Amino acid sequence: MKTKMLSCSEADLEEAAELIKSGNVVGMPTETVYGLAANAFDKTAVAKIFEAKGRPSDNPLIVHVADLDTAANAVSEIPPIAKKLAERFWPGPLTMILPKSDKIPMITSGGLDTVGIRMPSHTAARRLIELCGVPLAAPSANLSGSPSPTTAKRVFEDMNGRIPAIIDGGESDVGVESTVISFEGDGIRILRPGGITREMLCAEAENVTVDKGVLNELDEGAVVLSPGMKYKHYAPQAQVILIKGDLSAYREYVLKNAAEGDFCLVFNASEAVNFIPYLVYGSTSGEQAHMLFEALRRFDELGAKRVFARCPSPEGVGLAVYNRILRASGFCVIDLEVLK
Ligand code: TXA
Ligand code: MG
Repeated sequence: MKTKMLSCSEADLEEAAELIKSGNVVGMPTETVYGLAANAFDKTAVAKIFEAKGRPSDNPLIVHVADLDTAANAVSEIPPIAKKLAERFWPGPLTMILPKSDKIPMITSGGLDTVGIRMPSHTAARRLIELCGVPLAAPSANLSGSPSPTTAKRVFEDMNGRIPAIIDGGESDVGVESTVISFEGDGIRILRPGGITREMLCAEAENVTVDKGVLNELDEGAVVLSPGMKYKHYAPQAQVILIKGDLSAYREYVLKNAAEGDFCLVFNASEAVNFIPYLVYGSTSGEQAHMLFEALRRFDELGAKRVFARCPSPEGVGLAVYNRILRASGFCVIDLEVLK
């Protein structure tokens, strides 16, 4: 199969919609990361997503809608708190786990009786969903286990020959996947942090908790609320080592330990350590979210063996950055504060 690159023109979006309506998978830009989109109601089409990604079948997909009526069609119930959050944060990077309707096949929900729903804000994504006239199931458009793609070029590298088309909608704005939440009575549990931050959710609801799996390694065989959290994620070929501590402690550690093939991941160029090659990922949490996955993919191209990463601050969208880099490192953290 030849993978065609499409633009965000109306004609190209119509072409993409025709492909989806006839049961195919298309690479779709969103404001978080790129997705692999298919008709969420069509079992055979959704099976093609799992095949293209090499994704375990118990890992559920997020269903994307362009309006609230379609969302209501995909779920059996929308509690008042979910309605309030939809009004406040949709369209945008918030996925809500709700009881699914009979229209969503089990393959889409990974065998669960709930479904994750979100309304993306990227204009091309919304237009595509409208043209298809059905909700679109779309996981991130990477091969299972690699960092999520934030440009059409990166989707092409993973999916060339596996899907018929990719829509190029430019760089993803946020750069990390959506915030995933579930509801427990009046409370909200954050299963995966993202662009809608804990602080933003706390302003709307009394009881907001961050699931243990966000910052901790799960025990073997543990029951997880979000199946995606069990799998090794976002990992480049290089061993990422997350270094906690101030800049001078970081520099000292790197100078002592770096060998041939090692790289630094620093906030800005002024933090570079002598002759050791480096990439920067930004001084603010927003920049770090925007650049992290691209940096991880770039390390692979550079043939990095190990990456000594400056540890992001876990406030705001920084919690999402911290969660992703922690998983990219396989929970390999060196805390220089403790070693002092
Ligand atoms: O920003 C995003 O959410 C992107 C773009 C394309 O929209 N999509 C995305 O999908 O990141 P994916 O499949 O890579 O991640 C979906 C996450 C997984 O961790 C999965 O376990 C969780 O959402 N999830 C989906 N449905 C769920 C459900 N019913 N219950 C619990 N967790 C669910
Ligand atoms: Mg993913």
